[in-house]
Amino acid sequence: MAVSKKLQTLIEQDNQYLFQNYGTRLPACFIKGKGSELFDQDGKRYIDFFAGIAVNSLGYNHPALNSALHKQIDAIMHSSNWFFNKQQIEAAQLLSETSFPGKTLFTNSGTEANEAAIKLARKYGISQSNDKYHIISFTNSFHGRTFGAMSATAQEKIRSGFGPIVPGFIYVPFNDVTQFKKTLEANKGKICAVITELVQGEGGITVADSYFIQEINSLCKENNILLIIDEVQTGIARTGKMFAYQHYDIQPDIISLAKGLGGGVPIGAIHAQNFLVEFFPKGTHGTTFGGNHLAAAAAKTVLEHCKKESLLNNVNTMGKLIVEKLSIMKKKYPTLIIDVRGIGLHIGIELSMAGQPIVVEALKKGLIINCTAEKVIRIMPPLTINKKLVNEGLSILDSIFAGVTA
Ligand SMILES: Cc1ncc(COP(=O)(O)O)c(C=O)c1O
Repeated sequence: MAVSKKLQTLIEQDNQYLFQNYGTRLPACFIKGKGSELFDQDGKRYIDFFAGIAVNSLGYNHPALNSALHKQIDAIMHSSNWFFNKQQIEAAQLLSETSFPGKTLFTNSGTEANEAAIKLARKYGISQSNDKYHIISFTNSFHGRTFGAMSATAQEKIRSGFGPIVPGFIYVPFNDVTQFKKTLEANKGKICAVITELVQGEGGITVADSYFIQEINSLCKENNILLIIDEVQTGIARTGKMFAYQHYDIQPDIISLAKGLGGGVPIGAIHAQNFLVEFFPKGTHGTTFGGNHLAAAAAKTVLEHCKKESLLNNVNTMGKLIVEKLSIMKKKYPTLIIDVRGIGLHIGIELSMAGQPIVVEALKKGLIINCTAEKVIRIMPPLTINKKLVNEGLSILDSIFAGVTA
């Protein structure tokens, strides 16, 4: 792809000054956004079907979020968790109101939210028996890159090359009730928690079966095992309900959050049932930045907007429209599109070929999409996206599919 002089300079500086752990970055440097549109270093316009990996829930330059952030910057950004924090309290109250009454602990990212969940679960289990520290997670899951969350991630490619991982994780095939029951039976009294996503985002937009999740929920309750739902990618209205677990008839003990929670400002959280508060007494866990005034003000504003019926309706309507149009494309390109799946605005298109060339081609044509699990195109635009941009973005995708299959 031919790059402008401006971009070439950025590429060279990136190489000189930054770790190259993200591989070769896609050839764009965004300098401005508005709603669900982005503009790069050369002023080129893009439709955003990616939202910065499901982060920019309210799109770019949302007036209410901008105004809340400006106000907070002018007042105070950080004071530390040694002091009371009104914005944290307000954001936590909104989490209790939109999920279940409970206690919140703020972090800075998704992986840190899962670290907190893992520590809380182990503290709970070990308070009952020294052996009760094992956590079941599922194949193709993704829970983060720090040691605990990485150890919970049942994907060899994520864990390999770092020496011994954190002991105590047991991996079970996703959506396999029989194997889950066998594992419980074989480890009676040793399991403190189960951690799972409900839509495996990095694992290829694989949706959990209702029966599977309901069985896990019941077995956890029967065996005094905590159920941790990793809502880092699915939470905060992404699936058309505030939290993905609300599509299933289950009661999590802990949910972990991040990504969309701050609408672009880094913040994560665990929200847990009230009875768990005693397992994180003074000195057991904490963070310097977690939920500082600025980040918590962002979370509060995002939560206030995402819980609105109008926003949730938009997610459902736009999600339905995208799936309908993609299903038509699936019929049009039967050799290319194997499956279209997802909930709300968390949608995957499984292809018969590698997805990355499609991502690169889309970028050239002014559409931002992403590929996960090698062959799955992931569509997760800002939750505020409108019909006009959805149609425009999908027609770009259609033209690319037509070119690939010609
Ligand atoms: C389900 C899930 N959990 C945890 C994480 C880790 O979040 P972060 O990258 O903010 O540490 C991710 C990130 O993609 C995720 O999708």
